[in-house]
Amino acid sequence: MANIPLNLGNLTAVLGTQWGDEGKGKLIDILSEEFELVVRAAGGANAGHTIYLRDPVSPTTSKKFVFHLVPSGMLHKACVCLIGNGVVLHLPTLFEEIELLEKNNISTNGRILIADRTHLLFDYHKEIDAVQEERKGDKKVGTTKRGIGPCYMDKTSRMGIRIHELLNFAKFTAKYRQNLATLKDLYGEITYDTEKELSELKILAEKIKPMLVDGAHYLHTAYKNGRKILVEGANGSMLDVDHGTYPYVTSSNPTIGGISVGTGLPGRAFTSLVGIMKAYVTRVGSGPFPTELKDQLGEDIRQKGGEFGATTGRPRRCGWYDSVIGKYAVMLNGLTDINLTKLDVLTGLPTLKIATAYKYNDEILPSVPADLDIMENMEIEYIEMQGWTENIGDIRSFENLPQNAKNYVLKIEELIGCKISSIGVGMERDAMIFR
Ligand code: GDP
Ligand code: IMO
Ligand code: MG
Repeated sequence: MANIPLNLGNLTAVLGTQWGDEGKGKLIDILSEEFELVVRAAGGANAGHTIYLRDPVSPTTSKKFVFHLVPSGMLHKACVCLIGNGVVLHLPTLFEEIELLEKNNISTNGRILIADRTHLLFDYHKEIDAVQEERKGDKKVGTTKRGIGPCYMDKTSRMGIRIHELLNFAKFTAKYRQNLATLKDLYGEITYDTEKELSELKILAEKIKPMLVDGAHYLHTAYKNGRKILVEGANGSMLDVDHGTYPYVTSSNPTIGGISVGTGLPGRAFTSLVGIMKAYVTRVGSGPFPTELKDQLGEDIRQKGGEFGATTGRPRRCGWYDSVIGKYAVMLNGLTDINLTKLDVLTGLPTLKIATAYKYNDEILPSVPADLDIMENMEIEYIEMQGWTENIGDIRSFENLPQNAKNYVLKIEELIGCKISSIGVGMERDAMIFR
């Protein structure tokens, strides 16, 4: 790569390794300077990927962009973005995002493609999401209420509606009405304006025509022609419906399997896999969080790190770095590189703790347990590291970091067994150390 000193090859994926919000958007934006195609593979508008762009005229101020459905490569003019078949797509939300980009002088024309096998997410999925949460009472997942679970339910129960079906609007409408009737039998409470949604979709059905492609075929052709492809992971490994803290998870596979399924790109074609890992851990919503800090320190990290949801604005729970889940994510995804983010947020803490093992009934557990009762009641073993006080926001080489910051990074690398090849030291595009 010309400017980015990482040797990632032609096909890479960027994956969240914790409970989401690790800082995927920032690295994807940086890499899309050199990748020509950026592809979303799974999830939906539950994702919120933040990018800060310095104002070229007054570089002390930045503009904030949050991407939910549009892939995060859009801020680079030469980059084409594809919404892969594994995504659950709420079309009005996509077009709201497009409108916002256009308002900010980011031309989207011809730059956003949608795989024709992508499942559509409707307003009723959001309504059902809310009803399901309500019915769960104190066992609620704390979803983003973006309709993700109900849409994947329709997909796997084989009643989902794919975007290519909009091209025959009469047939589409009949299926939509039939689905709604079936769902009302199950969730009688849902009330919303069906006709309004249908008339909105009729307009959008025309707009999406030039955007539809056979996703897998398009990507394979691009790959054979030597175009560089970057797959943008959403959510995080611990939210994976199979490997995460089930049932407190999302309804897709944010891990590498979901990346392959959600794009049609086979696992063996990937030249590198970059895991994004916050230098501490956060989580939004319910579910176990072994290293959570429920005290003032957790609150201080939340304030300093700006840990409030990019999609829902909810305060994120904060805790110490957990190398057990770090190692788990490296194993599950076969990661080749780690981008450790938000190291700057830890500046000023006199000591830092790192979880090194989970212990239950006096025995060290081999990995992350499936049983949430064990996860809630196990003991956590920690090591303590010395902190640093120097401002690291302007440092751009690993050697120049304070010795204690270097020690902290090297200890994490040793514990998880994967190279930390980049380190985030601030929100902006240039606030990244490569090593
Ligand atoms: P994503 O969902 O993984 O893309 O992450 P989010 O955008 O939801 O949350 C990450 C937040 O951390 C965003 O506000 C980013 O701008 C910010 N961020 C990313 N990397 C860094 C970093 O290295 N330092 C600081 N201070 N902020 C960062
Ligand atoms: P990004 O891509 C953080 C969490 C929700 C909830 C659970 C299920 O920005 O990292 P869902 O709406 O998916 O049914 O909610 O998953 N969740 C996320 N948390 N970042 C995300 O995405 C998330 N996507 C889902 O908070 O606990
Ligand atoms: Mg996010």
